[in-house]
Amino acid sequence: MASGSEDDGGNTSGAAWRLVGPASELSKKPCRLMFSPLGRDSDVCLFYVQRQFFAMDARCAHSGGPLCEGDIEEADGVLRVFCPWHDYGYDLKTGKSGTSLEQQVYEVKLVDGNVYVKHASHLSLRPFPANQKN
Ligand code: FES
Repeated sequence: MASGSEDDGGNTSGAAWRLVGPASELSKKPCRLMFSPLGRDSDVCLFYVQRQFFAMDARCAHSGGPLCEGDIEEADGVLRVFCPWHDYGYDLKTGKSGTSLEQQVYEVKLVDGNVYVKHASHLSLRPFPANQKN
């Protein structure tokens, strides 16, 4: 049984696998905002699209728009989330846009029905106290 604090020694600097929760629950919405104790800039979107999970920084690289509220579209086999503020689109797998802007993406894995995201901090579906006013 996975413990939630396992570290597989991956080479993403300072990152470890973070238990987020059961896939059966997390797959009920197309996006969940996951809070980081490191602050707003480290929060992450967990997308569930076409039966796959994707993780990406939650604030748009352009001006900080909320990507969890963006539309998701597929074109030419590429899934993209479109920022609700100025409509830049980011590839859910790579974080690349058609511009020089790029979102950080994170590896996701499923173990025993639970979703893990490789990230530098713990991730929570509830705000940490310092984030709660946001
Ligand atoms: S803030 Fe996202 S496109 Fe401008």
